[in-house]
Amino acid sequence: MPSRTDSLRRIEPAHGLEGDVAVPGDKSISHRSLLLGALADGRSEIKRFGSSADTTSTASVLRQLGVDARIDGDLATVDGVGVRGLKAPAEALDCGNAGTLLRLISGLLAGQDGSFELIGDESLSGRPVERVATPLREMGARIASTDGYPPVRIEGGSLHPISYELPVASAQVKSSVLLAGLLAEEGPTEVREPRPTRDHTERMLAAAGARISYSPGRASVWPVKTLRPLSFDVPGDFSSAAPFLAVGVLMSGSRIRVHGVGVNPTRTGFLSVLERMGARISVFNRRTVAGEPVADIEVSSSELTATSIGASEVPLLIDELPLFALVAALSHGESTVWGAEELRVKESDRISSTTRALRAIGVRIEERPDGFRVRGVPTRPGGGHIETAGDHRIAMIGALAGLLSRDGVQIEGADWVEVSYPGFFDVLDSLRI
Ligand code: S3P
Repeated sequence: MPSRTDSLRRIEPAHGLEGDVAVPGDKSISHRSLLLGALADGRSEIKRFGSSADTTSTASVLRQLGVDARIDGDLATVDGVGVRGLKAPAEALDCGNAGTLLRLISGLLAGQDGSFELIGDESLSGRPVERVATPLREMGARIASTDGYPPVRIEGGSLHPISYELPVASAQVKSSVLLAGLLAEEGPTEVREPRPTRDHTERMLAAAGARISYSPGRASVWPVKTLRPLSFDVPGDFSSAAPFLAVGVLMSGSRIRVHGVGVNPTRTGFLSVLERMGARISVFNRRTVAGEPVADIEVSSSELTATSIGASEVPLLIDELPLFALVAALSHGESTVWGAEELRVKESDRISSTTRALRAIGVRIEERPDGFRVRGVPTRPGGGHIETAGDHRIAMIGALAGLLSRDGVQIEGADWVEVSYPGFFDVLDSLRI
């Protein structure tokens, strides 16, 4: 069977994009809905679920733990087993490519009875786990990594609350500690972050009936005896909407409207950046769905000028920074990103994979230890061959680069988009005028 890494796809130039798009449900929220649904008493029904390779890994790990978790199209159903009801399986739990699953479930397993082993694919096996293991050990968990990486072994047991200052701004680490805090002997378990990160866990814990208090940069949770099952529609994933927003702005003669997108302010840094670069964007039909802000977003082609992104803004658009590099490449002036060393420990080292991908199509981009500098030229790049480094976000910028190029782009490893957005290429193609 050909692997995702070998998959090739050629994207020809487009001359204007137009239409309406509804992106899959948010990946961060979808993972969390399965995990909290598993701990609830009763059946959770999650509609507009973001079905992808990553969230499928979460459902299958939960099944290994004795939870009936099913994904059928965009509906996910979970029969919860109660907060301490996960059962240790004999085999290792395979988290695939999903860093969010690996980090969040470590917190949950630390407070369950039994021994667990967490493994993942090649990329996940190179992602740091001590950032999660350290605070969990402080809570009394017995957890061992393999020189700082998966496989991770956890002996579940009794946990005590901690007050923890995160050394890196990471919603995954924050969430892992909060989930462990649900199972601690007493409360509160408190997490403080150097800069506010996405707060989906906090919002969903409140919806499930947990006692939690939070404000930007800090959250405290108390142990629970039971959680309520969840029933809601997942907002569209801002990170899956972002490529459409970017290409709609960059390509002349375009107008794209993305419907039902999550616009939680901890996620929409890319929108603010586009606006400050001069993009024509309207955000309308604002509403609240499942405690999360949702809106429709329309963009049309605009001339953009360069901007800088620094450490304080980085967590608000962490997954959009490769995309930002492409946008910067087609804007007037020189753009920089700094304070983004976290990009080096994502699905790929995104500072070097982004730099390599864009250089391959003639962009003048310079790699720096904590970000990059891009010399913008607002004309179509020639085209070329982009290698995704096994990273779904690089596959996406490869596709946009192809549409925006003069000669087309060949993407090697194109099928990695399935990690977050199966069907991405078809939706993009349907917008060609
Ligand atoms: C995520 C948090 C971010 C993000 C990842 C999803 C989450 O990671 O990059 O794609 O769902 O909590 P970090 O928290 O490690 O920055």
